[in-house]
Amino acid sequence: MRCLQARGRGLLLLLVIVSFTVDVSTSIAAGDAINRTLSIRDGDTLVSGGGTFELGFFSLGGSNNKYLATRFKNIPFDNVVWVANRRAPLNESTGVLKFSEAGNLIVEDKAGGVVWKSSAGAAAVSNPVAQLLDTGNLVIRDGDSNGSSSSSLDYFWQSFEEPGNTLIAGMKLGVNRKKGLRLELTSWRSADDPSPGNYTFGLEPGLLPRLILRRGTTVLYSSSFWNGRRFSGIPDFLFSEIYTSVVASDENGDYYSFELIGSNQSTIVVQADGKVRRLAWSSRTSTWNDFLTGPADDCDPFGACGPYGVCNTSSSPICQCPRGFRPRSQQDWYLRYTSGGCVREETLQCGGGDGFLTLRQVKMPDARNMTVNIGVGLDECRERCLSTCSCTAYAGSQIGDGRSGCLTWSGALVDTRTVANGREELYLRVPGHLADPTTAESTAENKSKRSKVTVVTATVVPVVLLFLLCACGIWIKERTKDTMVRTTTTADGDMKRKHFNASLNIVGEDAAAGLPLLDFETIALATDNFSPSSKVGEGGFGTVYKEKWQGILDDGQEVAVKRLSWISIQGTNEFINEAKLIAKLQHKNLVRLVGFCVHGEERMLIYEYMQNSSLDSFIFDEIKRALLDWSTRLDIILGIAKGLMYLHHDSRYKIIHRDLKASNILLDGAMNPKISDFGTARIFGADQNMEKTKRVIGTYGYMSPEYAINGTISIKSDVFSFGICTLEVLSGVRNRGNGSHWNLLTYAWKLWQEGNCLEFLDATVSNSFYTAQIARCIQIALLCVQEQAIDRPTMSTVVMMLSNENFPLPQPKRPGFLILASGNVTAVSSPSKQEYTKNELTITLVDGR
Ligand SMILES: *[C@@H]1O[C@H](CO)[C@@H](O)[C@H](O)[C@H]1NC(C)=O
Ligand SMILES: *[C@@H]1O[C@H](CO)[C@@H](O)[C@H](O)[C@H]1NC(C)=O
Ligand SMILES: *[C@@H]1O[C@H](CO)[C@@H](O)[C@H](O)[C@H]1NC(C)=O
Ligand SMILES: *[C@@H]1O[C@H](CO)[C@@H](O)[C@H](O)[C@H]1NC(C)=O
Ligand SMILES: *[C@@H]1O[C@H](CO)[C@@H](O)[C@H](O)[C@H]1NC(C)=O
Ligand SMILES: *[C@@H]1O[C@H](CO)[C@@H](O)[C@H](O)[C@H]1NC(C)=O
Ligand SMILES: *[C@@H]1O[C@H](CO)[C@@H](O)[C@H](O)[C@H]1NC(C)=O
Ligand SMILES: *[C@@H]1O[C@H](CO)[C@@H](O)[C@H](O)[C@H]1NC(C)=O
Repeated sequence: MRCLQARGRGLLLLLVIVSFTVDVSTSIAAGDAINRTLSIRDGDTLVSGGGTFELGFFSLGGSNNKYLATRFKNIPFDNVVWVANRRAPLNESTGVLKFSEAGNLIVEDKAGGVVWKSSAGAAAVSNPVAQLLDTGNLVIRDGDSNGSSSSSLDYFWQSFEEPGNTLIAGMKLGVNRKKGLRLELTSWRSADDPSPGNYTFGLEPGLLPRLILRRGTTVLYSSSFWNGRRFSGIPDFLFSEIYTSVVASDENGDYYSFELIGSNQSTIVVQADGKVRRLAWSSRTSTWNDFLTGPADDCDPFGACGPYGVCNTSSSPICQCPRGFRPRSQQDWYLRYTSGGCVREETLQCGGGDGFLTLRQVKMPDARNMTVNIGVGLDECRERCLSTCSCTAYAGSQIGDGRSGCLTWSGALVDTRTVANGREELYLRVPGHLADPTTAESTAENKSKRSKVTVVTATVVPVVLLFLLCACGIWIKERTKDTMVRTTTTADGDMKRKHFNASLNIVGEDAAAGLPLLDFETIALATDNFSPSSKVGEGGFGTVYKEKWQGILDDGQEVAVKRLSWISIQGTNEFINEAKLIAKLQHKNLVRLVGFCVHGEERMLIYEYMQNSSLDSFIFDEIKRALLDWSTRLDIILGIAKGLMYLHHDSRYKIIHRDLKASNILLDGAMNPKISDFGTARIFGADQNMEKTKRVIGTYGYMSPEYAINGTISIKSDVFSFGICTLEVLSGVRNRGNGSHWNLLTYAWKLWQEGNCLEFLDATVSNSFYTAQIARCIQIALLCVQEQAIDRPTMSTVVMMLSNENFPLPQPKRPGFLILASGNVTAVSSPSKQEYTKNELTITLVDGR
């Protein structure tokens, strides 16, 4: 074992040394981690701390190609769980795994060509470490922070976020909204070719998540949904002595994963032939044993019996039409071509007279046309279905946290099958004379039934609402006053905007500003009482939720709710005046405020919802970043500049954003950038003038030096943040403002001085045509981040520089990072009181300085 010591030397020098000495030996023979000075070559392996996994260059199947792969160390065959260079095999035993200058892990071939690169690097830290954990996860973390204490949030990159064809314990399938990742398994092409095949298997998120196997975009198999404890309709899927399944949702996403029991080993593999297998290793017999395989029987293929068909493997033919239905084509049915499904023999009477047919022991139909109503019992569910003409079936279910849910379907029912020993019942809408007696009775007695339902809901609903309110600990006393009002409206199923004079002092619509004051419980219901799963973002000013199943606005426009987190400095009237003011700011590059809510101490702002989430979810995402070509990036930068110019100069009120960053730039369906959070700074800062502030609001990495250190705010501090955003859009690298010497600014400045601008550009952007534009853009960004505020251009100058290629550009002076790097760091990082969350979140420094 031979290690190179290169601490304190320049990075370039370091690289030179590494590349010169690779042929000698920079390798390590054992250990679970490498850093910038260590690498592993073909023949070496990293072994995880507990000895469960090893990482090295291996061949797969009968092929001679070499792949950097993770495999079970103590299982002799079929043991590969993850392959790095799955698309680009090495054909010789010369592969090397090491760190690139940007802190990415790379696999190089003999000629030094990069055949694989980790999608996120650790450019901002001086000592990145890649470690193979005993879970099988290969992670890149900051080697200067304590290894054992670092959590997955601190990983710059992890192999668990680039799944192959195998799911191992602790790994997640699903969506990571924060990073914009779709975590799904992809089959290999064949047993010795791990490049992506035709099949994917993943979790379809939602209120009732499902596991779905696809070929391309075609659904081949869909599990029934997760009802909080298991996938309904698959009684055995979850329970075994060797693993437990978990479906979890948090603010960042929805996931399926499993945990092992004891020292057993189990995996889920998507085979090249499109079969999903759950395997368990038996060390006694040294075999992988099948637990479950899917699609397993003739009823498993998605939609085997077409619309309204019900599949039952014990019947012959396996596809049956329910009572009152007949095959769409009897001829096809005879020939066992069943995907045309069944049609009704008699149309439904929407006005009344319909009933329900009970289908027992079934897997619930495809959920795409299904609606979930939480806290609604089975009786009311039936009423709701009957009173909606498009409703074709209903069912009751448990929802995630054990509450009852009413499921209703519209349109044709697809993928219904029987399940031996299943417990679910589906109520299919049919004309009254075909209905099962119990449900037919209910239509006959429609009058008395209806009044019974009203009584039930009238007593149940207030309890549910009270529970909701107690749970958030808000204003129970005030609530009880208007229980009567709410009972009637909720029993109608109407959760739309209401005006309760009892619960608020000021309610109504300000006609002049056109800005509705919205009702608290409408918002609470629409966001599932601000549940973590409806949360879409978080910042220093508060938490953002997306409505889940009910329109907050009457016109059905999708909205996002920002629940301001601080007890407001302002009184109600001041807040309302500010909100109205913000609503008057209208520009195509600003997110539009469409309403607000005041409720006790609560303050909420309702914004239009942006389909494409935030800029950071694109530029820092390995897959989505490729969607941003050069002209899109330039448009985004220009759009931000125009929005900011409007705030600074063009609106009637000079507004300093104070927390401009990639996650505050939202993208609409056409990728137009819109600045969000611009009004919140004002709402919180109305008592402060533009020179000095007691409360420093901002985000490390985006804050100008004079603001971070002295609390001096001006439009130039926003210009600085804009410069950082621009550099991030150009490079696709996050500026980690952690006071380290190695950050995006240093990197940009260094390349600029070397005249090597193009290197700075995100590698996914093909740049050959736009060299001059790109260099110009970097120069403008560097002008914006100059150390002295006075040197920085105003936003109107920036807009001119960006939109006019002939506008002369001065030479940038050194950027403002050097202040942080040269000793004053303590002034920033140790004020008397501070809330500091890792670089992404906004920090708040409260200090009289
Ligand atoms: C890399 O790890 C080796 C062995 O732990 C250590 O000697 C060396 O100093 C490390 N290099 C850096 C740059 O931290
Ligand atoms: C490996 O691949 C390269 C390029 O595809 C080729 O030039 C070389 O001859 C191959 N080497 C072997 C040993 O097959
Ligand atoms: C890191 O570990 C060292 C030594 O084990 C300890 O002194 C230090 O307090 C730790 N730092 C953190 C942030 O946990
Ligand atoms: C993937 O699908 C295409 C088109 O159906 C087919 O030609 C190809 O052989 C399939 N690949 C694999 C690995 O099955
Ligand atoms: C799972 O592991 C536990 C503890 O190691 C062991 O007792 C048990 O028999 C294992 N289960 C199976 C099915 O092998
Ligand atoms: C499936 O078909 C068999 C044979 O016709 C029948 O006995 C069984 O009850 C059916 N299963 C369900 C759940 O309807
Ligand atoms: C949902 O229902 C609509 C209307 O009946 C239908 O056109 C559409 O195909 C259905 N979608 C799915 C996925 O079943
Ligand atoms: C209730 O049922 C009766 C027949 O039993 C029917 O005449 C009446 O229209 C129904 N009322 C409603 C509101 O569906």
